[in-house]
Amino acid sequence: MKQKPIEDRFHNARNDPSLVVIEGFHPLKHAVRFGAELLEVVSRNLKELAALQAEYAPDIANAIDGRVAAIPDEVFARLGPVPPPTGVMAIARRPNVDLTKLLADLKPAPVILLENPRNLFNIGAAVRAAAAAGAAGVVNTGNLDPWKPAALTSGVGLQFAMPVAQSDDLPKCDRPLVAVDLGGETLPDFHLPDRALLAFGTERQGLSQELLDLADYRVSIPMENGVSSLNLACSVAVILYHWKMGQ
Ligand SMILES: C[S@@+](CC[C@H](N)C(=O)[O-])C[C@H]1O[C@@H](n2cnc3c(N)ncnc32)[C@H](O)[C@@H]1O
Repeated sequence: MKQKPIEDRFHNARNDPSLVVIEGFHPLKHAVRFGAELLEVVSRNLKELAALQAEYAPDIANAIDGRVAAIPDEVFARLGPVPPPTGVMAIARRPNVDLTKLLADLKPAPVILLENPRNLFNIGAAVRAAAAAGAAGVVNTGNLDPWKPAALTSGVGLQFAMPVAQSDDLPKCDRPLVAVDLGGETLPDFHLPDRALLAFGTERQGLSQELLDLADYRVSIPMENGVSSLNLACSVAVILYHWKMGQ
């Protein structure tokens, strides 16, 4: 069967829930490092790509050498709304994530719950912090997909480093539910329980009343007078490093 034009393949992949589009070298680097199944990699400049790879990720050479198709600038520019400056894009298979298994994991590491975040860049930055700190995974509620290209870009592809799941509702599980919220007991005194489900609220309104009512604990990050709140992803990083340093 004749292959579809490359523009169609990338366009279709953006709308196919079984696939993800990776934009840029650094998300691709992490995707490869953490075992992504790449279906197609394209570059507008193979020399530039080789230089990036030699400088930042010599470890991925075997996985991508000989697999990258060189394409002209003008075709590359048509593959997405904002072509990445590093000149490389890929289509990968989206990993299957078992939400029940993630929540049942018995290791002490927390799971991050993002309740209806409204910004893909915040979702990605939260995923990045979660991967860096060794969280067990991330669960996202609401209608934004944590695997969309913008979230993969700000998450630098670290969605591939741990389970990142989408859930229609507040997931039910036996983990202690910790609401990270402006009105809670303040760090650093609060000791996070093992296997916590750490819940963070939406950018504008914060956590829902439903979640606050269900929470076993409520914790807040101290701030200077006059400052309303931290950015969502920053608060994920602060709480996770509080947990990590207390390990
Ligand atoms: C931008 S804040 C939302 C602010 C919102 N106006 C509120 O009243 O919660 C987004 C999320 O980041 C977390 N957050 C931000 N600053 C925080 C702080 N100082 N202490 C605890 N959580 C914080 C919370 O989970 C919050 O729901």
